[in-house]
Amino acid sequence: MIKIAPSLLSADFANLKEEIRSIEKGGADYLHLDVMDGMYVPNITFGAPVIKKLRKITKLPFDVHLMIEKPERFIEDFVLAGSDIITVHQEATTHLHRTIQEIKSFGVKAGVSLNPATSLSTLEYVLDDLDLVLIMTVNPGFGGQSFIPAMIDKIKALRKIIDERGLDIILEVDGGIKLSNAVEIYNYGADLLVSGSDIFGAENVEERTREFKDLIV
Ligand code: DX5
Ligand code: ZN
Repeated sequence: MIKIAPSLLSADFANLKEEIRSIEKGGADYLHLDVMDGMYVPNITFGAPVIKKLRKITKLPFDVHLMIEKPERFIEDFVLAGSDIITVHQEATTHLHRTIQEIKSFGVKAGVSLNPATSLSTLEYVLDDLDLVLIMTVNPGFGGQSFIPAMIDKIKALRKIIDERGLDIILEVDGGIKLSNAVEIYNYGADLLVSGSDIFGAENVEERTREFKDLIV
């Protein structure tokens, strides 16, 4: 079964309630929330207060993708806002192991994301502690970019490691995923696909979400 996390980044920010209703009705598995600080990435989105308000209007699990410098400063805020998964960037935190342990200490799932240029080997000594690895297939910061083909090998290599070691890790892929390439990416070994512009840019968001879900049942 294909799992989908629509990214709110491409939603109509003036109508978040309706947008979230649409993906719920379409069968979304998670809500992907892209937090950007204008430092780690060249864009600013929203923070914990917005997520806390959204927590009141939906039961969808919150997959929070922190694209912020030194995310260790704000872990508790995002826990209290109602995150189910908190993903930090390997490149953005000084003490990755400590940050992961802090997320887990709150009973929240811990994820680490890798930029396109970052090697999988950077996760070698923390893999056993992770609940999720997010492979970025675009450079983080914006929706609507093209999938970087060189990331295919990274997805396959991580799938192999997870299977060979019998790890309980969700392999999430984010960036440039559309209805047209989702099955291909799923077949490389992804468990969870993020899609922003192709879902929220669609004329019928509910229908587009369902189309993604119906690709592999
Ligand atoms: C990019 C974000 C993505 C983004 C994906 O920095 O992490 O989640 O919303 O958008 P699309 O699906 O349009 O590439
Ligand atoms: Zn994201």
